Amino acid sequence: MSSIDQSGTFTLGDRAVRRLGYGAMQLAGPGVFGPPKDHDAAVAVLREAIASGVDHIDTSDFYGPHVTNQIIREALHPYPDDLVIVTKIGARRGADKSWIPAFSPAELTQAVHDNLRNLGLDALDVVNLRCMIDPHHPAEGSIEAPLSVLADLQRQGLVRHIGLSHVTPTQVAEGRRICKIVGVQNHYNLAHRDDDALIDQLARDGIAYVPYFPLGGFNPLQSSTLSAVAARLDATPMQVALAWLLRRSPNILLIPGTSSLLHLRENLAAAACALPDDAINELEHVAGIVPA
Ligand SMILES: NC(=O)c1ccc[n+]([C@@H]2O[C@H](COP(=O)([O-])OP(=O)(O)OC[C@H]3O[C@@H](n4cnc5c(N)ncnc54)[C@H](OP(=O)(O)O)[C@@H]3O)[C@@H](O)[C@H]2O)c1
Repeated sequence: MSSIDQSGTFTLGDRAVRRLGYGAMQLAGPGVFGPPKDHDAAVAVLREAIASGVDHIDTSDFYGPHVTNQIIREALHPYPDDLVIVTKIGARRGADKSWIPAFSPAELTQAVHDNLRNLGLDALDVVNLRCMIDPHHPAEGSIEAPLSVLADLQRQGLVRHIGLSHVTPTQVAEGRRICKIVGVQNHYNLAHRDDDALIDQLARDGIAYVPYFPLGGFNPLQSSTLSAVAARLDATPMQVALAWLLRRSPNILLIPGTSSLLHLRENLAAAACALPDDAINELEHVAGIVPA
């Protein structure tokens, strides 16, 4: 058994994917804008991820913009049959690298076509509607209008499955009344636990939960507790952070992002990192939770 198989699988849409996948956002240039500083390294990271067994890649056409999808296409097209590429729509980029909400029917439709063209696909496996009511924190507000546009694009055959991103539990419930939701992608990691109850609810309902910033995002996690547990287990802090997420709930799918081959290898090896119960209890303190 290769190490990534030890992460197990969970269903995303109509396919079981390995629980350790890859997030492609780090492949664009600084500020997720423009070309990467090392184009060949970006291609190599994608190819090694697939060769190592990754069958779930997260992306968006607003990374770059367009750049990340174009690198994915260059590196991997024609795609392996078992690869699930998940993208997201709901924003566009300003020339100043800003993230601008793009929720009109025309903008959402354009975003789906941009993803199709730049990835070289006839249909997108999974499209997440990324809510932008408040770009920094999930904020309440109806998602019916934009989600109905995405559901129409699904009926036209351009999108196979629909997910939600940067949403509140109320919006997840609203979304599930409008169309089938196969996954939720929100900010969550060892230190950022706002979605604990939502994860458990989605697990009961068989829906995937995909934490973004699993390693802390632009400021990777730093914690003396995490470092101490990692040292004891002969692992790295980032491996323990990923192993904790794998242990947290069976519906969690991981998409750690990196532009580095060494970090990719380190992250995929987290599938083999078993956390004993005392380490789990200790790690609760990273988020300030006192174990019962
Ligand atoms: N839905 C949304 O709104 C949303 C928002 C953000 C991200 N996402 C998705 O989620 C994915 C994951 O999030 P993310 O990439 O922003 O954050 P992340 O996976 O939490 O962390 C990525 C950062 O950690 C570094 N890193 C990765 N592996 C490491 C290791 N083993 N040791 C030390 N540093 C390491 C990376 O730098 P190096 O490149 O140097 O390794 C990068 O700076 C993204 O790629 C994207 O697909 C979605």
